[in-house]
Amino acid sequence: MLKRLLVAALAILLVAAAGGWAYATRHPAIAAIDPPDPSAFPPDLITRGEALAALGNCAVCHTVPGGAPYSGGYAIPTPFGTLFSTNISPDPEHGIGRWSEAAFARALRSGVSRTGELLYPALPYDHFTRATDEDVAALYAWVMSQPASASVPPANEMRFPFGFRPLLAGWQALFLDEARFSPSPDRSAEWNRGAYLVEGLGHCGACHTPRNTLGAADSGRHFAGTTLANGWHAPALDATTPAVVPWTADSLVNYLLDGWDRDHGVADGPMTHVVDNLGMLSEDDVYAIAEYLMSHLPPPEGDRAALRAAAEALEFPSQTPDAGFAADYADGALRRGFDTFARACANCHRRGTETVPLALTPTVHAPNAVHFVNLVREGIKPPQNTPDKTMPAFAAMSDADLRDLAAFVRRHFTDRPAWNDPPPG
Ligand code: HEC
Ligand code: HEC
Ligand code: HEC
Repeated sequence: MLKRLLVAALAILLVAAAGGWAYATRHPAIAAIDPPDPSAFPPDLITRGEALAALGNCAVCHTVPGGAPYSGGYAIPTPFGTLFSTNISPDPEHGIGRWSEAAFARALRSGVSRTGELLYPALPYDHFTRATDEDVAALYAWVMSQPASASVPPANEMRFPFGFRPLLAGWQALFLDEARFSPSPDRSAEWNRGAYLVEGLGHCGACHTPRNTLGAADSGRHFAGTTLANGWHAPALDATTPAVVPWTADSLVNYLLDGWDRDHGVADGPMTHVVDNLGMLSEDDVYAIAEYLMSHLPPPEGDRAALRAAAEALEFPSQTPDAGFAADYADGALRRGFDTFARACANCHRRGTETVPLALTPTVHAPNAVHFVNLVREGIKPPQNTPDKTMPAFAAMSDADLRDLAAFVRRHFTDRPAWNDPPPG
């Protein structure tokens, strides 16, 4: 604990020192322009920009649910406080209507606003910095062709001292490797395309790679999986994947395009939007993403049918509790969890239904129970292509029932140690 505090204190000092230096050489403002006329952009440039904006999740982060697109105000919890995304609609007063393409490109790839202020890396510019000039131009054309909104997002609520933007100069000096994507010559064109999409505008690592104490990607643990600030768990996409039946390129394409694969289940939580957005890409691009991910995942070896059969054997044989595993759970919390499962869950989660065997899903293998708790409390609103994968929300389940249920599910469907962060209550 003390060691971690010391490391954190030292890191903050370093950042402050680096910040002081870099503050002196800070960026100039880029002159405001008259808002560009959207009809001046070639229509196919705008269409390309639309797909790239989907890949970049721009609208997800820059729109509050139900709000005008790109009008900002979406709350982003971080360990340093809450950020609210800015209005990036082309409104000249409250949006970015007066930003030139150069100013827009500098924000996306260098994390500097038009006026020269440093931006928080919640805008994933450490990834967007890989994007080509052509792709940034297309994004600019798309964003500048959207309806203007005069909405003003709430002020950020950062904890001291993180509201002081010049500190970000230190962060950028330490962690921002500003370089466009450069293809790897000994890899296929498809792999390189996938790498460009995943590491650049797709910013998959922003959720799937753990962050260090200062919120930067922990580069030594690329794709090692992590629990997000909002509690959802983004599973590992490297050798430590929780997948029981190994991923193949085809199962990845199913998952990324439809949001569901028979051996991995449905994309839920924040991954739902990612999947819906990937639907804007060409199929070739999604195959390229799968090809690139496969080079990080373990080779698809092993007897897939046997692995799946073992998972199916853990499913309840019927909805009637005493027909199944009742004898394994004689009393106590696990028995109460078993009973809750039989009552509330086995109707859908048992043999002979269309739902994925629970033992195959990342949720039960996650390092902590939070994803599971979120899932049960909120239910599943599946991606657009798999409407039948809806699960109801158990918002009213008592904390005690949920705790016992989590203990049971973890014990029954995995060989992993019990969750030691028993959920609420
Ligand atoms: C994970 C959330 C997230 C995603 C995804 C995201 N942004 Fe942002 N963006 C933010 C936040 C938060 C800020 C404000 C940062 C700050 O205040 O320092 C921001 C700021 C910006 C700014 C600077 C605006 C200003 O007024 O200073 C631009 C331009 C921008 N984003 C464009 C985009 C585009 C284009 C995309 C998609 C390619 C995108 N953003 C994707 C969260 C996001
Ligand atoms: C906003 C955060 C976020 C972003 C960005 C994100 N993911 Fe995910 N991803 C998640 C979460 C959370 C899950 C877990 C979903 C679940 O349990 O159903 C997930 C699940 C996955 C899975 C399934 C893993 C498993 O073991 O079942 C794959 C594959 C995946 N993501 C690929 C990607 C790719 C490729 C990208 C970039 C194009 C990406 N993700 C971007 C949050 C994110
Ligand atoms: C009305 C049907 C229904 C009920 C009742 C139900 N679920 Fe689900 N659940 C689903 C569906 C559909 C899926 C997605 C299945 C798939 O991916 O094939 C799902 C998926 C899941 C997943 C896997 C998520 C992932 O990572 O992919 C878990 C865990 C889960 N449910 C737990 C529960 C628990 C615990 C209960 C009881 C409190 C419950 N479910 C009740 C329909 C239901």
